[in-house]
Amino acid sequence: MIGVFDSGLGGLTVVKEILKNLPHYKIIYFGDTARTPYGTKSAETVTRYAIENTQFLLERGAKIIVVACHTVSSTAIPALKAKFFEVPFFEVVTPSMKRALKLTKNKKIGLIGTRTTVESNIYDKLFKEANSEIKLYSNPTPLLVPLIEEGWVNKPETRKIVKKYLISLKMKGIDTLILGCTHYPLIKKLIQEKAGKRIKLVDPSEEVAIEVKNFLENHGEFKEKLSFNTEQNLEIYVSDITIHFAKIAQLFLGRRVTLKKINWE
Ligand code: DGL
Repeated sequence: MIGVFDSGLGGLTVVKEILKNLPHYKIIYFGDTARTPYGTKSAETVTRYAIENTQFLLERGAKIIVVACHTVSSTAIPALKAKFFEVPFFEVVTPSMKRALKLTKNKKIGLIGTRTTVESNIYDKLFKEANSEIKLYSNPTPLLVPLIEEGWVNKPETRKIVKKYLISLKMKGIDTLILGCTHYPLIKKLIQEKAGKRIKLVDPSEEVAIEVKNFLENHGEFKEKLSFNTEQNLEIYVSDITIHFAKIAQLFLGRRVTLKKINWE
């Protein structure tokens, strides 16, 4: 069973890709909708939440954990690996970084994400270690998560904001742009349109799904296939529930879903 969590429902973009690549595995998802957003919180708080979310998924039988949140991936992975040292963890930063390195020709890479992700400087550090010639230009884009969660994916206001956020990155001459938040694949078309055809996008949901697939193919002990059909192989838990959340979850996954609310107590 693959455990996946995010601060809210954005991580369902990752679930969608995992289901596409691994339709015969069972996924248990936790969206911390009561405590979202994480992108405006301190690394310390995000780490505490990440530990609790992981504990919840492990208690329900998850054998590997996919951190489907850029904010958690950029701040809490060392603490998670130290606390749950026997559990394989997958995060969205490293595969996105590797993909960007492969795609860039002019070595100018852009990054958009939540404030906590951008301010963690994780990408600066990883790129410096991988290739000192890479120039990374980052821009926090905090308005995008609420707009996406509101379902405003194609409203003129959202189009204007995306355009404005990308201007400074385009002026730097980037040829690759990392979508540093698992919500952003939902407005990938719009981002591509405003970035222009010349800029290649890195989608974290695609990258991490491929990484999980490769891992399972090379680790027989986790490869126990489950005979669920695609309608039954996903359980979604949230820490708060509204009708609105069910609608958004459907938007992220492209299919009807049932959300179960957990009680932290
Ligand atoms: N989906 C989260 C991420 O990838 C962003 C949402 C939030 O701010 O909690 O960073």
